[in-house]
Amino acid sequence: MIERRGGVAIIAPAMREIPLEDNRAALEFADRLLAGGFELVIFLTGVGARALFQAIETRHPRGLIVEALKKVTTVARGPKPIRAMRELGLEPTIVVPEPNTWREILNSVSARGDLNGQRVAIQEYGASNRELIAGLEARGAIVTVVPVYRWALPIDRAPLRAALEQIAAGEAEVALFTSSNQVTNVIQMAEADGIGADVMRGFSRMAVGSIGPVCSEQLRAYGIAVDFEPQHSKLGHFVNEAAARAASILASKYRAPRIEVVEVPIRRRVASAPPIRSPLHDHPMMKACRREAAPYTPIWLMRQAGRYMPEYRRVRERHDFLEMCRQPELAAEVTVTAVERLGVDAAIIFADILLPLIPMAVGLHFEKGDGPIIDRPIRSAADLDRIPPIDPDALNFVGESIKLVKSALANKTPLIGFAGAPFTLASYLIEGGSSRQYQATKTFMYTQPEVWHRLMEMLARITADYLKMQIAAGADIVQIFDSWVGSLGPDDFRRFVLPHTAAVIAAIPAEVPVIHFGTVTGNLLELMRAAGGDVLGLDWRVNLAEAWARLNYSVAVQGNLDPVALFADVPEIRTRARAILDQAGCRAGHIFNLGHGILPETPVDHVIALVDAVHEMSARH
Ligand code: CP3
Repeated sequence: MIERRGGVAIIAPAMREIPLEDNRAALEFADRLLAGGFELVIFLTGVGARALFQAIETRHPRGLIVEALKKVTTVARGPKPIRAMRELGLEPTIVVPEPNTWREILNSVSARGDLNGQRVAIQEYGASNRELIAGLEARGAIVTVVPVYRWALPIDRAPLRAALEQIAAGEAEVALFTSSNQVTNVIQMAEADGIGADVMRGFSRMAVGSIGPVCSEQLRAYGIAVDFEPQHSKLGHFVNEAAARAASILASKYRAPRIEVVEVPIRRRVASAPPIRSPLHDHPMMKACRREAAPYTPIWLMRQAGRYMPEYRRVRERHDFLEMCRQPELAAEVTVTAVERLGVDAAIIFADILLPLIPMAVGLHFEKGDGPIIDRPIRSAADLDRIPPIDPDALNFVGESIKLVKSALANKTPLIGFAGAPFTLASYLIEGGSSRQYQATKTFMYTQPEVWHRLMEMLARITADYLKMQIAAGADIVQIFDSWVGSLGPDDFRRFVLPHTAAVIAAIPAEVPVIHFGTVTGNLLELMRAAGGDVLGLDWRVNLAEAWARLNYSVAVQGNLDPVALFADVPEIRTRARAILDQAGCRAGHIFNLGHGILPETPVDHVIALVDAVHEMSARH
């Protein structure tokens, strides 16, 4: 959840549950309860109440305990202890109102009657609630505490120690506490390590969140200011609240934040109603997208239908490239030929990321040797305003190609639809073609940020519609090509790109896998993950094992053979394929591919040898 909102999670387990060796307190409580030794019993937690009942049941029949509890006044602190009591068929006499702190407990208990001389048992879990005990005793009650569980520090304290050191060094920005016992353990550990003061100073500069009022009380008791609590004591709400408020809290704590915090929009993908269920749902390629185990590692290759293939060149001799894209029969033919010739596990529709520029009327054409050219590049607000309203049907020919390919593939191989990501499309529109430094693109971004965002919003809208059209026509998966985004540093990516790519991905129905691809993105992987996608494309400049671990395996990965490796001899290709499969281990969720498209001079038999090698070496019996 934290990563989805653009955060980097530092995970530090701070407590370990240890049952009291023999639960003596629980058994003594039972003996006294059965002997009529209490007038009032307070249940503070669900887990503790349940554990207490279980401990007692090792000695006494359940019926007896239930009868005894029915004779006394029982108090449930909140919904969880109520549920634990109901499991025994008991209704609490008193239900404590929210926010369920010791004050509400004390008020509701004393409202019911005089406590003087009353014998009160408190089921405790974790640290004792000193205020509650003192409050009851001040009203004349005779209090017995029944501690059920205790919290210890974890056995492996290294992660907590490391996290405390980061806090002390001012390297962490948000602290999320999910229980009051955690607070105690964290402070004790910091003090034992001799960095208590530094950690406290660290907290004072961080955005500190607490899951609820009990935890907040404990934080304040240690002198730690609580900056926010979620509306409901649930982890999802907690993380959302942190994402929404951390930036402004941090900004108010220092004059100049050390790093710029740009909020990542929270974008949850929703399934379409009724959900689209691909007939290829259980195909290895589809399973890999969902990180489910597959019988072998699926493989397909970017630009698998291209000039390296004689069948392609034969069609191309007679037709211009854009014409091939525009004629569904031709596009379908080269798409299907590539799949059949190579034996790959996915087809990719023959088209181009630049097709959406056609209805934008910027003068797109392809020149031999020069690649794409845009005659009237977008360099200003006026250029942007000249773009005519986009005809939503202008690219329907791609949908027609998809339908033809779907019927030719007869539900044997999934079909990938695709589009360019807003940044890569913008780079072509602004540069007027391919580029090395992206000088015009970045200059645009840095000098006209508002126009930039307007352009990106428009491209995101067009791209989302284009992909949805492809899905409606039958695409089983979609890939978003952000081929040139690696030219940006992480701060620029966060600010100028991430929200727009996230908007495209969020528009795709949750059940249709999205592959989010880029090159030279070693510095951006976590942020690309935050922008969304079920599968992240990796190029050969990163080690697949390291990159995947960095992503906490929270996403499937696709890649990452160097396309130039296909010019080596077959034994060398096999060795390199093996190395990549080894880096992926046996983990579910790896799709084999190149790190970028197949180059035009690549020997076809080497490509086939790669596909066969991956199938053979990854077969799981
Ligand atoms: O992968 C496939 O087999 C599907 C088809 C596909 C093409 N382009 C066909 C194509 C896909 C997925 C693309 C995506 C694409 N197009 C990208 C993103 C992928 C990447 O390579 O980073 C980009 C940046 C483009 C833009 C583009 N289209 C360029 C820069 C060029 C010229 C470069 C070249 O190889 O000539 C194209 C033309 C193009 N797109 C060709 C093909 C088969 C070559 C056209 C020809 O036959 O002359």
